[in-house]
Formats: sequence, C-alpha cells, structure tokens
Amino acid sequence: MTSPKLVCVPLLLALAAAVTATLMYGAGLNVTDLHPVARPAMAAAVRDGQTALALRLAKQLAPASGNSSAKGNVAFSPASIHAALSLVAAGARGATLHQLLAFLGTPSAAGLADFGRRVVHQVLGDRAASGGPSVLFSGGIWVEASRGGISRAFRDVADQCYNSVARVVSFADKPVEVAEAINSWVRTATNNLIDSIVSVSDITPNTDLVLANAVYFKAKWLHPFQARRTGPATFHRLDGTRVDAQFMSQTMYGVHYASSVDGFKVLKLPYKHGSASDDTHYSMYIFLPDDRQGIAGMVDAITAGPEYLYSVLPKTANKSTVLTVRLPKFETSFDWDLGDDLRLLGLSLPFSPESADLRGIFHKNHSTYLSKVLHKAVVKVDEDGTEAAAATVVLMKGAGRKPPTQFVADHPFTFFMMEERSGVIVFAGHVLDPTNRSASKL
Ligand SMILES: *[C@@H]1O[C@H](CO)[C@@H](O)[C@H](O)[C@H]1NC(C)=O
Ligand SMILES: *[C@@H]1O[C@H](CO)[C@@H](O)[C@H](O)[C@H]1NC(C)=O
Ligand SMILES: *[C@@H]1O[C@H](CO)[C@@H](O)[C@H](O)[C@H]1NC(C)=O
Ligand SMILES: *[C@@H]1O[C@H](CO)[C@@H](O)[C@H](O)[C@H]1NC(C)=O
Ligand SMILES: *[C@@H]1O[C@H](CO)[C@@H](O)[C@H](O)[C@H]1NC(C)=O
Repeated sequence: MTSPKLVCVPLLLALAAAVTATLMYGAGLNVTDLHPVARPAMAAAVRDGQTALALRLAKQLAPASGNSSAKGNVAFSPASIHAALSLVAAGARGATLHQLLAFLGTPSAAGLADFGRRVVHQVLGDRAASGGPSVLFSGGIWVEASRGGISRAFRDVADQCYNSVARVVSFADKPVEVAEAINSWVRTATNNLIDSIVSVSDITPNTDLVLANAVYFKAKWLHPFQARRTGPATFHRLDGTRVDAQFMSQTMYGVHYASSVDGFKVLKLPYKHGSASDDTHYSMYIFLPDDRQGIAGMVDAITAGPEYLYSVLPKTANKSTVLTVRLPKFETSFDWDLGDDLRLLGLSLPFSPESADLRGIFHKNHSTYLSKVLHKAVVKVDEDGTEAAAATVVLMKGAGRKPPTQFVADHPFTFFMMEERSGVIVFAGHVLDPTNRSASKL
C-alpha cells in the first residue's frame, strides 16, 4: 500500500452532467393527440427499449475487439439521448415515426411520452432536500421566428414530459447571440460542469429548431472512501503501456455487493439516498473484465440485451466475505456528434431532407429534418468534491478465512450509473486510461 500525501475532505462526490442538442433544418401541421397514458406494463416495455438503446450505444463506443490503440475514455447519458429522440418522436409522423419507435424499442408514441414524464419527474427528481442526490433535468427549445411557431400538441409534450420551454429566436439574423443563449442555458442546467454544446458554425440560415436537454447529478457514496488511503498505482492501458493513476481504496467488512460472472466481475457502489420518503436509489456499477485486454469481449456480453444486463447485477448483499475496493480517480469529458452512429444503428429517416416526416413539430406545414445530434458528458469521482474528476475502480476480494484475494481494477473497465428502482441507466462509459481527461467522437 502506498502512502498518499493528500489533504482532502473525507467525502466522495460523484458529479456528472450531460447535455444533448438536436439541430433541425427545413422549410408540420396536423396536431395529433399525444396525451400521455398511464400504463405500467407499457412503461416496463419502454424502459427495456431505453436500456437496449443504452447498450447499443455503449457497444458502439467501446474499443473494437483486438484494437489496442484506443486511448480515450467514454462517458454519455443514455437517459438524455433517449429523451432527446423521444421528443423528436413526438413530432414525427408516418414512416419516420415508425422508424423512431422501432429504434427506441417502444410500442407507441403515447407510451414513450408517458415514460418520459415518469423518468423526468420521478426518476430524475431532485432528492437533495431529503439528503439524497441532487438531480436536475431540464430542456429547452429554440424555434426560428419565421416558421410560425410549434404546434400545441408538441409544445404540451415538450413542456409536460421533458420540462422543455420554447423560445422564439432568429437563427439567420443572430446566430452568435442564439448560440450563446443556448450555451448559457447549458451552463446553468449543468451547474457549470458543461460550458457549451453548440458552436456558431453549427447554426446556418436553414436552422429552424434546436432541442436540448441536460441532466445533472451529484451524490455522495453511501460508504465514502478515506482520502488517506488514496495513492498512486499502475493502470494497464489496452496497448500494454502503463500509467500511474491515483487509486482510492476501502475495505468492506460487513456488506458488499459484487458478483462474478463468466469472464468479468461486477461491483455495485451505492450512492447515499435521502430519508425514507426518497423513492430513488442510485448506484454506480463497475464491470471489470478478468483479462487486462478483455473489455471488448465483456462489452459484447453485457450489451447483448437488457435482460442479461439486469441478470448479472449483484442483487443481494454478501455478508460472508471481506471485499477491498480500489478505485482509480478519473475525470472524463466526452464530446460526441452522434448522427453517424445513429444512422449506422438504423435511424436514418429523421436525418433525410427528402423523407423526414416531422410535420407534428411546427404549427404550419413545412418540412424539417435532423441535421445534427450533439452530446457532451462529464463524469468525475473525487474525494474532496471541489476538483473536476471522474472515477477509476480497483476491487479486491477476500474469501472467508483464506487470505484476501486481490481483485484490482487496474485495466480498462465499463461503468453504468443506474437508478435501481426503475432500472434507468442515467450515465454510462468506458474507462481506458484514468489519467486521460478528455476525448471526443466528432
Ligand atoms: C389530422 O389527422 C387526422 C387523422 O389522421 C385527420 O382525420 C384530420 O383530417 C387531419 N387534420 C388536418 C388538418 O390535416
Ligand atoms: C482503433 O481505435 C482507434 C481509436 O478509437 C481508431 O482510430 C482506429 O480506427 C481503430 N482501428 C481499427 C483497426 O479499428
Ligand atoms: C486521450 O484520448 C484521446 C482520444 O482517444 C487521444 O487522442 C489522446 O491521445 C489521449 N491522450 C493521452 C495522453 O493518451
Ligand atoms: C460472497 O462472496 C464470496 C467470495 O467472492 C462468494 O464465494 C460467495 O458465493 C458470495 N455469496 C453470495 C451470496 O453472493
Ligand atoms: C404539406 O406540404 C407538403 C409539401 O410541402 C404537401 O405535399 C402536403 O400535402 C401538405 N400537407 C397538408 C396537410 O397541407
């Protein structure tokens, strides 16, 4: 064990924020009733669709099998991306709507909107007042003035289901001011963790709509790490090179949640939740392959489907053994222009200038299509909570009377931050090098 020289407040904060912006171009009319319905069975189906999307995106962003040159960490918010595409679906019609619903794995637009409302108001509800996580979700809509406004049905879904307020702007006349207004909104909505999402060059005379949403999350671990136990150790990157990272460490004697599956291990680190009235329970799950270079194979397995993912999560507390957890600190900022990835995964119609049918968005009949979907996420895990940082994990496992076996997450791993009761994955990512602070896929 190395001896650190850190002076820290002995609290560990996980900070995370993400924002998704959808930019649309174009020259919609029929107001279709999209009033949310309350159907629990449908909510479960939509949740599985959301998780399936999270898994497809996590796989798309994972290093390819056998590719050892990948160095950048990945972080994104499946919940934010799902909400953005769901709002687009609220304005889609015909074949475009059908493709969006199939892509989102959901039976109907009404079920999707209802699920969105539950996620935004219940799962992503702020629990700070009762001592739980601080969670914020908000949305914004910027509409080109000359387009005659958005339809009432679309505005109702945006407002009631996605906390999204519409503003009328002039993209053509004031691109600099509008870009700054959107970025300023992003800073406020993410508590300054994310500085900007759009640049002036993203806005053209044809831009007629920007949809954005942001998620902010801040919580303490249920079992904080002690700063005096943090110290440097070796992390093995995919290409076989090594890097020194700061590893946090703690030993769990009474209770821990860990499971060992064929080829990888899963650890649950719960966040502190609020008083009894707090009906959300957040945890970070860390997926660590047995092989140092095993992340691609492991991601193939865990992204096969929601059912498998949920089945490998440790569900009951293990009281029989001692577990030593070692987690390298990390800070990840990830920029992603997802249009190409969404098209590769089969979502093409909303991006087509000729075929996109998003007539439900605008009040007047004019055609529009998605030009860009931009996403940015920051995830950091740190003891003192003042530094921007993300987390790296090392686990050690002790077995009964035997000498403790060490399980060290000193090589690339995957994480999911999930709200347990709903199964909604709010953040996800891959850590390939805990010392690398920013990466992008633009
Ligand atoms: C809107 O759609 C409904 C059902 O598809 C149709 O009956 C109605 O005529 C349409 N209204 C307009 C104004 O196109
Ligand atoms: C390996 O990954 C790197 C970084 O993600 C990428 O640039 C490169 O194209 C990949 N190579 C292959 C053969 O897939
Ligand atoms: C961090 O990751 C990015 C994206 O893959 C890569 O371009 C960069 O070289 C990495 N930085 C270091 C220090 O490895
Ligand atoms: C508890 O952990 C030990 C050591 O990893 C393992 O052998 C045992 O099966 C676990 N028990 C449960 C209930 O998961
Ligand atoms: C909307 O406009 C398109 C062409 O831009 C036209 O084909 C369609 O019939 C129009 N729909 C309505 C309801 O006016």
